[in-house]
Amino acid sequence: MGLFFRKSRQFSLLIFSFLSFISFGFSLSTVSISETSNLTLVCALVPSLELHRSSLNCSSFPVPGIQIPFNPNVSFTGIVSGNGFLCGLRPSFSSSNISVMHCWRFFSNGTKIEFKRIYRGPALKQLEAGNSIICGLNETNALECWQWPEFNQPRDQNFSAIAVGEGFVCGLSAGGNISCPGNFPGISDKEPEGNYSVIAVGFSHACAINADNYLVCWGKTVVGDTPQGKFNALALGQNRSCALRTNGTVVCWGQNNFSLPQELEGLRFITIKAKRNVFCGVSAWDFSLFCWGDANFNSNFKVFSEVLPGPCRNTCPCGPVQGSGRFCSNGGSICQACIIPFGPITPSPPSAPSPQPQNRSTSNDLNGRMVAFLVVGCVGSFSLLLVVCFFIFRYCKGRGCRVHDSGRLDETGAPANGVSNQPQTSQAPLAPAVLEKRLSQLTSMGNTGRLEEFSLEALIQATNNFSEDHKIGSGSFGSVYKATLDDGRDVAIKRAEITSTSSYAIGTKRQEDKDNAFVNELEYLSRLNHKNLVQLLGFCEDFNERVLVYEYMNNGTLHDHLHKFQNSPFMSWAIRLKIALDAARGIEYLHEYAVPPIIHRDIKSSNILLDATWTAKVSDFGLSLMGPEDDESHLSLRAAGTVGYIDPEYYRLQQLTSKSDVYSFGVVLLELLSGCRAIHRNENGVPRNVVDFVVPYILLDEIHRILDPRVPPPTPFEIEAVAYVGYLAADCVRPEGRDRPSMTQIVNSLEKALTACLLPPSFSRSTTQSST
Ligand SMILES: *[C@@H]1O[C@H](CO)[C@@H](O)[C@H](O)[C@H]1NC(C)=O
Ligand SMILES: *[C@@H]1O[C@H](CO)[C@@H](O)[C@H](O)[C@H]1NC(C)=O
Ligand SMILES: *[C@@H]1O[C@H](CO)[C@@H](O)[C@H](O)[C@H]1NC(C)=O
Ligand SMILES: *[C@@H]1O[C@H](CO)[C@@H](O)[C@H](O)[C@H]1NC(C)=O
Ligand SMILES: *[C@@H]1O[C@H](CO)[C@@H](O)[C@H](O)[C@H]1NC(C)=O
Ligand SMILES: *[C@@H]1O[C@H](CO)[C@@H](O)[C@H](O)[C@H]1NC(C)=O
Ligand SMILES: *[C@@H]1O[C@H](CO)[C@@H](O)[C@H](O)[C@H]1NC(C)=O
Repeated sequence: MGLFFRKSRQFSLLIFSFLSFISFGFSLSTVSISETSNLTLVCALVPSLELHRSSLNCSSFPVPGIQIPFNPNVSFTGIVSGNGFLCGLRPSFSSSNISVMHCWRFFSNGTKIEFKRIYRGPALKQLEAGNSIICGLNETNALECWQWPEFNQPRDQNFSAIAVGEGFVCGLSAGGNISCPGNFPGISDKEPEGNYSVIAVGFSHACAINADNYLVCWGKTVVGDTPQGKFNALALGQNRSCALRTNGTVVCWGQNNFSLPQELEGLRFITIKAKRNVFCGVSAWDFSLFCWGDANFNSNFKVFSEVLPGPCRNTCPCGPVQGSGRFCSNGGSICQACIIPFGPITPSPPSAPSPQPQNRSTSNDLNGRMVAFLVVGCVGSFSLLLVVCFFIFRYCKGRGCRVHDSGRLDETGAPANGVSNQPQTSQAPLAPAVLEKRLSQLTSMGNTGRLEEFSLEALIQATNNFSEDHKIGSGSFGSVYKATLDDGRDVAIKRAEITSTSSYAIGTKRQEDKDNAFVNELEYLSRLNHKNLVQLLGFCEDFNERVLVYEYMNNGTLHDHLHKFQNSPFMSWAIRLKIALDAARGIEYLHEYAVPPIIHRDIKSSNILLDATWTAKVSDFGLSLMGPEDDESHLSLRAAGTVGYIDPEYYRLQQLTSKSDVYSFGVVLLELLSGCRAIHRNENGVPRNVVDFVVPYILLDEIHRILDPRVPPPTPFEIEAVAYVGYLAADCVRPEGRDRPSMTQIVNSLEKALTACLLPPSFSRSTTQSST
C-alpha cells in the first residue's frame, strides 16, 4: 500500500490532466454497493479476461456468501444496487436505443438468487438506486422508477439529473434548480435555491454542488460540519458523507467524527459511491476500487484491482481514454480527453438552505456554470449529472398526476416513506405504452402468473449447455430441449437458431423491428391461455439468444404415437376422436377467441402434443415472426407449413386464411383415421399423399377399407361416428377454402362424433357439409 501511494504521487501530473477530461453522459455507474442484513456486497464492472469485454464481479463482506450467477459473456453498461438487490443495465442485443435492466435479488443467507427483468425500453442515460428503490432517466430526461408503488410519474416533466435516496428522489432542472418532490421530511420543500450542477442524496439528507463548485447540504439528519473547498462529486450515506474535491482527493465527514481513513488521504479518485455506511471510490491512478466506512474494510481497502472507470460508449466527443478499448466490446470505449482551459472561477459560497434566490448576471452565470459543467464532467462522476434541462416537478405536486405502473422486483417491496401525497388508489390508465416497455410490465413481479423471464445461465445449467442429451426435437423455430428447472418444474425449451453474427449484421432499424416483433409476440402469446394450447411459461432474451420456455408435455407428439410407437394407447377410436376434438378446440380458440386471431400456419400431427393426462394441446402457434430470419424466404417458408399439410389453395393464391389451418387439420384427421403419414409410400414404394389416397374411399362410403388396421374395427356404434369424422375430414381438405368448415363447426361435429362413439348412435351423418 505504501509503495502504491508513493507511486501515485509521482504521477500526479498525469492524474491532473486526467481530471480535466470531460465525459458526456458519464452518468451510469460501474460500481455499486448493496447490503443485506449482515453482508455487504460490492460489485463492479471489471475488465474481463477476454479482450474488449468487461464483466461483472462482486465481492461480499465480511465473508463470501452471495454468489450472483453471472454469465461472464454479458457486458453491462451500468449497475446499481440496494438492500438485497443488484441490477445491471445493458443495451438490447439488437439496438443500443433500447436498454434492458436485469435484476438479481438475494438474501444474506445466500440461498436463492432470483432473477428478473424489470425494464426494457428506451435507453436510460442515468440509473440510480437507493436502498430500496430504483429510478432512471431516459434520453429525453423522463423519470421512471421501479419498486416504488406510490411513485407518481410527473407528466411532461423532466430532470437533467437525479439522485435517489431512501424513499425519495431529488432532481436538477434545466436551470440547475433542485427539487425533491413529495413530502419527505427535512428534504422536500427545504431545497436550497440557486443553480446547482451536482445533486446527491443519502438516507435522509441531501447535498448539492453549485456552479462554482461549492457545497451545500440539508436534510433531516445533516451531521457534522460541511467541509469548505471546491468539489466535483458527492457520495452520501447514512448520517455520513464524502465529497470529491476538484483536485481529486476525498474528504469525509459525519456522525461520530467520520472521516476518510488516513491511508486513503491524498489518493486521487475518479468517482465515489456510497450506500449507508460503506463508501467506495475508483482510484484515478490505476482504476482500482477502494472501499471504506465500516469494519469490513479496515484492514484492506482494495476490493478490486481494476474496474472500469466509466461506462463504455460508442462515441466520445473528445476521444476515448487511452487504452480503454480493451474494456469495451463492439468498438466502444470509455470517454475522456476533452482538455479544457480552466477559466477563472469567481468564488461565491453557496447560499444556506432556503436562502434568497440568486440573481446573477447571465454572462457570469453562464461562464461559471460552463466551467463547473466541464469540471464535473472531467471527474466523471458516474452518478452525477452534467446538464440541465427542464423540469416542473412541483407542478405535479398537489395535482392529479398519473400513478406510474412501476415494475417491482419484489411483490412485498417496502413502500417508500411518505413520498407521495397522492391517493394510491388513483389508478389512472397507463399512458400509451411504449412498445418496449410492455415487456417489463409483463414480467414485472406485479404481474406474476404471466410471463416469466429466465436467465440464460439458469437455462444453460438446466440443459447442460443445450446438450444433445437434452434435445427432444427441432422445428422451424430451432431446437427443443427438455429440462428440469431448479424448482422441479419440467419444461420444454425452444432455442431459436440465430447465428452469432446475424443480430449485429442486420441494420439497426431492421433489428429493432425484429426485436419489437419478438416482444409483440411474447406479449400476445402470454395472453393466450387455453387448456388445449401448450402454455408459454416464459422466455429468455440475451445477446444472441431467443429462448422460449413452455410447459413440458410428458407424452410426446401425436405424430410419434401414430407413426412411431408400437404400444400406443391410441388404439381405440374413442381415444382418437377425443384427441382430434382437443386439438380442434385449441385451434378454434386461436381462430375465434384470440384477439387478434391467430392463423397457426403449421398444423400437423407433430405439433399436437400430449400431456400427462393425455389431453392434446396445440403447440408452435404464434411463432410466425420468430422463425428463421432473413428476407422473404422467412415468410414463404414459415407460411408454407410442412409438406403434406400445406393448403394447396394457399399455395396457389399466396393468401393465408384460417381455412388453411382447416385444411392442415383435415390432414391430421386423415392420419388419425388411416394411420398413414401425411406423405407415405404405397405398396410399390411410390410417395403418396394421404389426401389423395384416403379421400376417394371416404367419398365412396368405403372408409372401412382405409381405417388404421392396428385399431380394432369399429364397434357397431363406433362405425357411424368414425364414418362421420371421415366425411368431416374430406370436407376439411376440399380444394376451395370456402367449401371447408370453420373450426367451430369442426368442434361441434367432433363433439357429436365423440358422444356417438361412447354411446349408442343417435344421429345421422347427413350434414357435415358447410361453408362460410
Ligand atoms: C462465452 O463465450 C465463449 C466464446 O464466445 C463461449 O465459448 C462460452 O460458451 C460462452 N459462455 C457462456 C456461459 O455463454
Ligand atoms: C433466506 O432468507 C430469506 C429472506 O429472509 C428467507 O425467505 C429464506 O427462507 C431464507 N432461507 C433459509 C434457508 O434460511
Ligand atoms: C447472515 O445471516 C444469515 C441468517 O440471517 C446467516 O445464515 C448467515 O450465516 C449470516 N452470515 C454472516 C456472515 O454472519
Ligand atoms: C422517455 O420517456 C418518456 C415517458 O415515458 C417518453 O415520452 C419519451 O419518448 C422517452 N424518450 C425516449 C428518447 O425514448
Ligand atoms: C443517523 O442519525 C439518526 C438521527 O440522529 C439516528 O436515529 C440513526 O440511528 C443514525 N443512523 C446511523 C446508522 O447511525
Ligand atoms: C487538495 O485540496 C485540498 C483542499 O484544497 C488540500 O488540502 C489538499 O492538500 C489537496 N491535495 C492535493 C494532493 O493537492
Ligand atoms: C472477482 O474478483 C475477485 C477479487 O478481486 C477475484 O479473485 C476473482 O477472480 C474475480 N472473478 C472474476 C470472474 O473476475
